[in-house]
Amino acid sequence: MKYIVSVLQYKPEFLMPQKNFAKISSMLKGLKSDLIVLPELALSGYVFAHQDEVDKVAESIPEGEIFQGFQALSKSIDSSIVYGFAEKAKDKYYNSAALVNPDGSYKIYRKIHLYFREKLFFSSGNSPFSVSIAKKGVKIGMMICFDWQFPESARSLALRGAQIICHPSNLVLPWCQEAMKTRSLENRVFSITSNRTGTEINGEHRQYFTGKGQILDTKGEILIRMNDTEEGIYSVEIDPELASDKQVSEVNSVFADRRPSMYYLP
Ligand code: ACM
Repeated sequence: MKYIVSVLQYKPEFLMPQKNFAKISSMLKGLKSDLIVLPELALSGYVFAHQDEVDKVAESIPEGEIFQGFQALSKSIDSSIVYGFAEKAKDKYYNSAALVNPDGSYKIYRKIHLYFREKLFFSSGNSPFSVSIAKKGVKIGMMICFDWQFPESARSLALRGAQIICHPSNLVLPWCQEAMKTRSLENRVFSITSNRTGTEINGEHRQYFTGKGQILDTKGEILIRMNDTEEGIYSVEIDPELASDKQVSEVNSVFADRRPSMYYLP
């Protein structure tokens, strides 16, 4: 199957969701794609200092204005979109990702492994890693940024049947882009890591983000890697069916050769 996947990288303006949504919309205008991945917290920025800042930008699903904007955008460009956002659900806040599809269906993933000061503002995700259906029935798995550090994240998604790991990120440590080669290779899945760029400053808090958004194939080879500062969107055609080939040699499979009874995984 021919399937065009895209990675977007940019620098959001802190606490300016409408302005950021307008910028993303103009970046996506006229794009021919089947699946587009955007960064973590793509509308709000990242360097929160107070809970009321999170509250100001957080959205509830499905009534959120930006969420509905993404639904309309997905339909108008006929592409699935995965984007990171601050979610408000009852009295809790989550660092979440949404998959929105052109047919109006959607799915939410709430970040399971929170990084550093995120723990001050967000609750960790309360549903296990699961597979979602994107345009043309392609199976995707969502994980967010620091989830990369835990191999169980990508493994769970791959074992559940994900063909493409969609990975909205605001990366601050230097290792993820290289580590994701192994996540793709050991699970034989495509991965799309969308990162943001720039330095964000909020009072005494300052954070540099590493860019280098990328799309990897099922052997961990780089199909696209952006540089650390550029803003833009890149696309490549893939065949998601290649992710069903788990063979390493004629007699070795990354799934069938697993020995769960020998592993210590408390
Ligand atoms: C991160 O998980 N945003 C570092």
